Amino acid sequence: MNPVGVFDSGVGGLSVLAALRAELPHERFVYFADTAFAPYGERGDDYVIERSRKVTEQLIAEHGIKALVVACNTATTATIHLLRAEHPTLPIVGLEPALKPAVATSRTGHISVMATRGTLASAKYAALRDSFAGSASVRAVPCDGLVKAIEGFDAAAIAALCARYMAEAGPFGDAPGEVDTVVLGCTHYPLVKNELQRHAPPALRFIDTGAPVAQQTRRVLASLDRLADGEGGLVLASSGDRAVLEAAAARWLQLSPQGTTATSA
Ligand code: DGL
Repeated sequence: MNPVGVFDSGVGGLSVLAALRAELPHERFVYFADTAFAPYGERGDDYVIERSRKVTEQLIAEHGIKALVVACNTATTATIHLLRAEHPTLPIVGLEPALKPAVATSRTGHISVMATRGTLASAKYAALRDSFAGSASVRAVPCDGLVKAIEGFDAAAIAALCARYMAEAGPFGDAPGEVDTVVLGCTHYPLVKNELQRHAPPALRFIDTGAPVAQQTRRVLASLDRLADGEGGLVLASSGDRAVLEAAAARWLQLSPQGTTATSA
Protein backbone atom coordinates (compact mmCIF):
# COMPACT_ATOMS: atom_id res chain seq x y z
CA MET A 1 0.00 0.00 0.00
CA ASN A 2 1.28 3.48 -0.82
CA PRO A 3 1.95 5.91 2.01
CA VAL A 4 -0.18 8.70 3.42
CA GLY A 5 1.42 12.12 2.92
CA VAL A 6 1.40 14.63 5.77
CA PHE A 7 2.76 18.15 5.51
CA ASP A 8 3.19 21.33 7.48
CA SER A 9 5.33 24.44 7.17
CA GLY A 10 7.73 22.82 9.62
CA VAL A 11 7.69 20.67 12.74
CA GLY A 12 4.18 21.60 13.93
CA GLY A 13 2.44 18.86 11.97
CA LEU A 14 4.38 16.32 14.03
CA SER A 15 1.69 16.87 16.68
CA VAL A 16 -0.85 15.60 14.13
CA LEU A 17 1.47 12.84 12.92
CA ALA A 18 1.66 11.49 16.48
CA ALA A 19 -2.13 11.16 16.55
CA LEU A 20 -2.18 9.61 13.06
CA ARG A 21 0.39 6.97 14.01
CA ALA A 22 -1.54 6.12 17.16
CA GLU A 23 -4.83 5.80 15.26
CA LEU A 24 -3.40 4.08 12.17
CA PRO A 25 -0.40 1.96 13.26
CA HIS A 26 -0.43 -0.12 10.05
CA GLU A 27 -0.05 2.85 7.71
CA ARG A 28 3.16 4.09 6.17
CA PHE A 29 3.49 7.87 6.45
CA VAL A 30 5.69 10.34 4.67
CA TYR A 31 6.00 13.58 6.62
CA PHE A 32 7.17 16.68 4.76
CA ALA A 33 8.33 19.75 6.69
CA ASP A 34 8.58 22.81 4.45
CA THR A 35 11.20 24.22 6.80
CA ALA A 36 13.09 26.27 4.22
CA PHE A 37 9.90 28.23 3.58
CA ALA A 38 8.47 28.43 7.12
CA PRO A 39 6.69 30.08 8.76
CA TYR A 40 3.58 30.35 6.56
CA GLY A 41 1.33 32.14 8.98
CA GLU A 42 2.45 35.74 8.59
CA ARG A 43 3.15 35.71 4.84
CA GLY A 44 -0.19 35.94 3.05
CA ASP A 45 -2.28 33.57 0.95
CA ASP A 46 -0.34 33.72 -2.34
CA TYR A 47 2.80 32.44 -0.66
CA VAL A 48 0.99 29.66 1.21
CA ILE A 49 -0.88 28.58 -1.93
CA GLU A 50 2.30 28.38 -3.98
CA ARG A 51 4.16 26.36 -1.34
CA SER A 52 1.24 24.02 -0.63
CA ARG A 53 0.85 23.27 -4.34
CA LYS A 54 4.55 22.50 -4.73
CA VAL A 55 4.71 20.27 -1.67
CA THR A 56 1.58 18.35 -2.71
CA GLU A 57 2.91 17.78 -6.23
CA GLN A 58 6.25 16.61 -4.81
CA LEU A 59 4.58 14.16 -2.43
CA ILE A 60 2.57 12.72 -5.32
CA ALA A 61 5.50 12.53 -7.76
CA GLU A 62 8.14 11.20 -5.37
CA HIS A 63 6.11 9.09 -2.96
CA GLY A 64 2.90 8.19 -4.83
CA ILE A 65 0.81 9.10 -1.80
CA LYS A 66 -2.65 7.54 -1.58
CA ALA A 67 -4.02 10.34 0.65
CA LEU A 68 -2.87 13.69 2.00
CA VAL A 69 -3.25 15.22 5.44
CA VAL A 70 -2.65 18.97 5.45
CA ALA A 71 -1.38 19.16 9.03
CA CYS A 72 -1.40 22.95 9.07
CA ASN A 73 -4.34 25.24 9.85
CA THR A 74 -2.84 28.08 7.83
CA ALA A 75 -2.39 25.96 4.69
CA THR A 76 -5.80 24.35 5.10
CA THR A 77 -7.64 27.67 5.31
CA ALA A 78 -5.76 29.15 2.35
CA THR A 79 -5.54 26.21 -0.03
CA ILE A 80 -7.53 23.08 0.67
CA HIS A 81 -10.29 23.95 -1.81
CA LEU A 82 -7.67 24.50 -4.54
CA LEU A 83 -5.76 21.30 -3.76
CA ARG A 84 -8.98 19.28 -3.86
CA ALA A 85 -9.96 20.81 -7.20
CA GLU A 86 -6.50 20.16 -8.68
CA HIS A 87 -6.23 16.57 -7.38
CA PRO A 88 -9.76 15.19 -7.52
CA THR A 89 -8.75 11.55 -7.04
CA LEU A 90 -6.54 12.23 -4.01
CA PRO A 91 -8.41 12.20 -0.70
CA ILE A 92 -7.29 15.29 1.24
CA VAL A 93 -7.95 15.81 4.95
CA GLY A 94 -7.41 19.27 6.39
CA LEU A 95 -7.83 20.80 9.78
CA GLU A 96 -9.21 23.97 11.25
CA PRO A 97 -9.37 25.48 14.74
CA ALA A 98 -11.61 23.27 16.92
CA LEU A 99 -14.19 25.92 17.67
CA LYS A 100 -17.18 23.61 17.55
CA PRO A 101 -16.10 21.28 20.41
CA ALA A 102 -14.80 24.27 22.36
CA VAL A 103 -18.18 26.01 22.27
CA ALA A 104 -19.98 22.74 23.03
CA THR A 105 -17.96 22.07 26.19
CA SER A 106 -17.21 25.55 27.57
CA ARG A 107 -19.12 26.30 30.76
CA THR A 108 -18.40 30.03 30.91
CA GLY A 109 -19.01 30.59 27.20
CA HIS A 110 -15.70 32.47 26.94
CA ILE A 111 -13.15 30.94 24.58
CA SER A 112 -9.82 32.09 23.21
CA VAL A 113 -8.43 30.87 19.91
CA MET A 114 -4.65 30.96 19.55
CA ALA A 115 -3.57 30.68 15.91
CA THR A 116 -1.46 32.33 13.24
CA ARG A 117 -2.41 35.74 11.90
CA GLY A 118 -3.12 34.13 8.50
CA THR A 119 -5.59 31.61 9.92
CA LEU A 120 -7.42 34.19 12.02
CA ALA A 121 -7.70 36.64 9.10
CA SER A 122 -9.06 34.03 6.69
CA ALA A 123 -12.58 33.89 5.31
CA LYS A 124 -12.72 30.23 6.35
CA TYR A 125 -12.10 31.14 9.99
CA ALA A 126 -14.75 33.89 9.83
CA ALA A 127 -17.23 31.36 8.46
CA LEU A 128 -16.29 28.86 11.17
CA ARG A 129 -16.82 31.48 13.88
CA ASP A 130 -20.15 32.56 12.36
CA SER A 131 -21.34 28.94 12.21
CA PHE A 132 -20.31 27.75 15.65
CA ALA A 133 -19.73 30.65 18.05
CA GLY A 134 -23.43 31.12 18.74
CA SER A 135 -23.74 33.19 21.92
CA ALA A 136 -20.20 32.36 23.06
CA SER A 137 -17.60 35.08 23.28
CA VAL A 138 -14.65 34.06 21.09
CA ARG A 139 -11.40 36.00 21.33
CA ALA A 140 -8.82 35.66 18.57
CA VAL A 141 -5.20 35.71 19.73
CA PRO A 142 -2.72 35.87 16.82
CA CYS A 143 0.58 34.50 18.13
CA ASP A 144 3.15 36.23 15.91
CA GLY A 145 6.63 34.81 16.25
CA LEU A 146 5.70 31.68 18.18
CA VAL A 147 6.05 29.29 15.22
CA LYS A 148 9.48 30.74 14.42
CA ALA A 149 10.58 30.29 18.05
CA ILE A 150 9.38 26.67 18.06
CA GLU A 151 11.09 25.95 14.72
CA GLY A 152 14.35 27.26 16.18
CA PHE A 153 13.98 25.50 19.58
CA ASP A 154 14.53 28.95 21.08
CA ALA A 155 13.57 28.23 24.68
CA ALA A 156 13.83 31.84 25.87
CA ALA A 157 11.65 33.15 23.04
CA ILE A 158 9.13 30.31 23.50
CA ALA A 159 8.82 31.11 27.21
CA ALA A 160 8.44 34.86 26.64
CA LEU A 161 5.89 34.48 23.81
CA CYS A 162 3.82 31.86 25.66
CA ALA A 163 3.63 34.20 28.67
CA ARG A 164 2.61 37.14 26.49
CA TYR A 165 -0.05 35.36 24.47
CA MET A 166 -1.53 33.55 27.46
CA ALA A 167 -1.89 36.96 29.14
CA GLU A 168 -3.80 38.10 26.05
CA ALA A 169 -5.93 34.94 26.03
CA GLY A 170 -7.06 35.28 29.67
CA PRO A 171 -8.27 36.01 32.29
CA PHE A 172 -8.83 32.31 32.94
CA GLY A 173 -11.19 30.65 35.37
CA ASP A 174 -14.65 29.19 35.88
CA ALA A 175 -16.36 32.41 36.97
CA PRO A 176 -18.72 34.28 34.62
CA GLY A 177 -16.74 36.26 32.07
CA GLU A 178 -13.60 34.16 32.46
CA VAL A 179 -12.07 32.00 29.72
CA ASP A 180 -12.22 28.26 30.51
CA THR A 181 -11.23 26.89 27.07
CA VAL A 182 -8.33 27.69 24.75
CA VAL A 183 -8.32 26.39 21.19
CA LEU A 184 -4.83 25.64 19.87
CA GLY A 185 -5.50 26.59 16.26
CA CYS A 186 -1.98 26.02 14.99
CA THR A 187 -0.39 22.58 14.93
CA HIS A 188 2.85 23.94 16.38
CA TYR A 189 1.23 25.02 19.64
CA PRO A 190 0.47 21.57 21.15
CA LEU A 191 4.25 21.04 21.10
CA VAL A 192 4.59 23.79 23.74
CA LYS A 193 1.44 23.01 25.71
CA ASN A 194 3.43 22.52 28.92
CA GLU A 195 4.85 26.01 28.59
CA LEU A 196 1.40 27.48 27.90
CA GLN A 197 -0.03 25.56 30.85
CA ARG A 198 2.42 27.29 33.21
CA HIS A 199 0.42 30.49 32.77
CA ALA A 200 -3.01 28.98 33.41
CA PRO A 201 -4.96 27.31 36.19
CA PRO A 202 -4.85 23.48 35.99
CA ALA A 203 -8.52 23.31 35.05
CA LEU A 204 -8.11 25.33 31.85
CA ARG A 205 -8.97 23.17 28.84
CA PHE A 206 -6.75 23.20 25.76
CA ILE A 207 -8.34 21.76 22.62
CA ASP A 208 -6.42 20.71 19.54
CA THR A 209 -7.35 18.72 16.46
CA GLY A 210 -4.81 15.89 16.27
CA ALA A 211 -7.08 13.04 17.39
CA PRO A 212 -10.21 14.07 15.43
CA VAL A 213 -8.13 14.53 12.27
CA ALA A 214 -6.63 11.06 12.73
CA GLN A 215 -10.12 9.58 13.15
CA GLN A 216 -11.34 11.42 10.06
CA THR A 217 -8.36 10.10 8.09
CA ARG A 218 -9.25 6.56 9.16
CA ARG A 219 -12.87 7.08 8.01
CA VAL A 220 -11.76 8.46 4.64
CA LEU A 221 -9.29 5.62 4.00
CA ALA A 222 -11.83 3.00 5.09
CA SER A 223 -14.53 4.44 2.82
CA LEU A 224 -12.16 4.10 -0.16
CA ASP A 225 -10.89 0.68 0.91
CA ARG A 226 -7.38 2.11 1.23
CA LEU A 227 -6.55 1.11 4.81
CA ALA A 228 -3.19 -0.67 5.05
CA ASP A 229 -2.62 -3.82 7.09
CA GLY A 230 1.17 -3.91 7.06
CA GLU A 231 3.83 -2.99 9.58
CA GLY A 232 3.56 0.74 9.20
CA GLY A 233 6.49 3.11 8.86
CA LEU A 234 7.63 6.67 8.53
CA VAL A 235 9.69 8.65 6.06
CA LEU A 236 10.79 12.13 7.11
CA ALA A 237 11.43 14.68 4.37
CA SER A 238 12.23 18.37 4.51
CA SER A 239 12.95 21.31 2.26
CA GLY A 240 15.38 22.48 4.92
CA ASP A 241 17.82 20.90 7.32
CA ARG A 242 16.86 17.26 7.73
CA ALA A 243 18.78 16.98 11.00
CA VAL A 244 16.52 19.61 12.54
CA LEU A 245 13.43 17.63 11.56
CA GLU A 246 14.93 14.39 12.87
CA ALA A 247 15.79 16.07 16.18
CA ALA A 248 12.27 17.48 16.40
CA ALA A 249 10.70 14.10 15.65
CA ALA A 250 12.85 12.49 18.34
CA ARG A 251 11.93 15.24 20.79
CA TRP A 252 8.21 15.46 20.09
CA LEU A 253 7.40 11.90 19.02
CA GLN A 254 10.14 10.02 20.90
CA LEU A 255 11.02 8.36 17.60
CA SER A 256 14.11 6.23 17.56
CA PRO A 257 16.15 6.19 14.36
CA GLN A 258 15.12 2.55 13.81
CA GLY A 259 12.05 2.29 11.64
CA THR A 260 12.42 5.85 10.45
CA THR A 261 13.87 6.74 7.08
CA ALA A 262 14.93 10.30 6.53
CA THR A 263 15.20 11.84 3.08
CA SER A 264 15.72 15.41 2.05
CA ALA A 265 13.55 16.81 -0.70
N1 DGL B 1 1.52 24.71 11.92
C1 DGL B 1 0.95 25.74 11.11
C2 DGL B 1 -0.52 25.95 11.43
O1 DGL B 1 -1.15 25.02 11.92
C3 DGL B 1 1.73 26.92 11.06
C4 DGL B 1 2.20 27.81 10.68
C5 DGL B 1 3.20 28.74 10.21
O2 DGL B 1 4.03 28.28 9.46
O3 DGL B 1 3.09 29.90 10.57
O4 DGL B 1 -1.08 26.98 11.19
